[in-house]
Amino acid sequence: MKQHRGSVFAGFDLGTSALKAVLVDEAQRIVGQSEVPLNVSRPRDLWSEQEPRNWWMALETAVAALRAKSPKAWAQLRGIGLSGQMHGAVVLDAADVPLRPAILWNDGRATAECRELTQAAPNIGNLAGVDSMPGFLAPKLIWLRHHEPAVFAKIARVMLPKDYLRLRLTGEFATDMSDAAGTLLLDVERRAWSARLLEAAGVTQDQLPRLLEGPEPSGTLASQLAVAWGLPAGVVVAAGGGDAACGAIGIGAVEEGEAFVSLGTSAQYVVVRDAHRPLPGAGIHAFCHAVPGRWFQMAALLNGASAAGWIARALGRSDIDALMQETETAFRGPADVIFLPYLQGERTPHNDPKAKGVFFGLHGGITSTDLVQAVLEGVAFSVADAQAALVAAGADPGLPSVIGGGARNKFWMKLLAAVLGRPLALRREGEKGPAFGAARLARLAVTGEAVGDVCETPPVESIIEPEPELARAYRKRLERFRSLYTVLKPEFQQNSEPAS
Ligand code: XUL
Repeated sequence: MKQHRGSVFAGFDLGTSALKAVLVDEAQRIVGQSEVPLNVSRPRDLWSEQEPRNWWMALETAVAALRAKSPKAWAQLRGIGLSGQMHGAVVLDAADVPLRPAILWNDGRATAECRELTQAAPNIGNLAGVDSMPGFLAPKLIWLRHHEPAVFAKIARVMLPKDYLRLRLTGEFATDMSDAAGTLLLDVERRAWSARLLEAAGVTQDQLPRLLEGPEPSGTLASQLAVAWGLPAGVVVAAGGGDAACGAIGIGAVEEGEAFVSLGTSAQYVVVRDAHRPLPGAGIHAFCHAVPGRWFQMAALLNGASAAGWIARALGRSDIDALMQETETAFRGPADVIFLPYLQGERTPHNDPKAKGVFFGLHGGITSTDLVQAVLEGVAFSVADAQAALVAAGADPGLPSVIGGGARNKFWMKLLAAVLGRPLALRREGEKGPAFGAARLARLAVTGEAVGDVCETPPVESIIEPEPELARAYRKRLERFRSLYTVLKPEFQQNSEPAS
């Protein structure tokens, strides 16, 4: 690192609700940050879209804020790493202009196309590491072929959300293995595009980006941008990773068995593996990690801290921290009400885009804090489902860390530890997240250091132990939570069918 003394690395995480940017110095301190909100458009039931040009505008706004707030650090910038929401379908014409809004990871329109894909490639669950689910990229391409043939015919390039930013930053058409794994087009064990899956989805390799490992350089910042942004020539843009993988890099989870729960807008439960370990049928995502020679098993939940935000809004409360405090003060044990948190369908373990949110067991004595508590518990129950799927897939989560915004709520962590029946580690600066992981990948791309030397795990700040009595009580509630979904599943399917 000597020759890079004084260097600063940026991480940009293209989230769904915001683009987050951090500047990280050589001592791995965050020396600048900015966040620019993003909107999601839901033009129809199950649809979820964003305009790629809004991502680029958000990035330019984030850069302007970083330059204004942290000019000294910005001037020392030598590398940029990209993280982003996974699975989105960005389709460009021959002039690199988006043909339509991107179809996002939480879009549920392509169910029929999933069946088609599975028929064409019955081995997809092993090959691509995950069963065919509508949020992934390949079924959305088939959906475009069926429903928007004029758009499909003009597609020159298909890419993932963060890779659109790369194209605008560097002119390069490239992605990394962890994000590529979320397309259902990658042979995840070989870390190469699968000819079989490409054929099944109706795309050719020249429509897809070049594959790189996360810490590899993908190009350098375009010279006109370097001039406009006051940077020297040659700022490296690392391949980066999907947000799940970059979250793992940020928390230092790069070795076999290291595990964490990320409780952001969505939630993921991730265990790092040293080999590809799929388990078709369980909703497990067995994907490439964003460092070479590593994979992970992930349970992906579409409803994380977003469910807590939803109940606060529904109750007309903008002061969510105060609402959580009131809920904690009123806590007397498991809520009478059970909440199914499937506000936007669910992936692990149900693979059910039509699942919906449900409050069950309402009675006249239920208060607003009971409802909030039920929401926190409902998300915890679905994390327990995630844990059960991972264990079935042969993973041992050991002592998982919890990261993401939800980890800041100690009360929620107490409920989660009891529901999961295992201790949870909260780490110093554990909420730094995917943007920080992306900045680490940028540093690796510039310095060529060893992954383990840079991707350290932050020290444990506290361990949340499961309270035995609470854990016992939640075991029973978890059974009811599970049976409620089973009973309601046929209703969810009907509920989504158009009224005749
Ligand atoms: C992972 C997943 C989410 C999105 C949005 O499978 O869908 O992590 O990347 O953050």
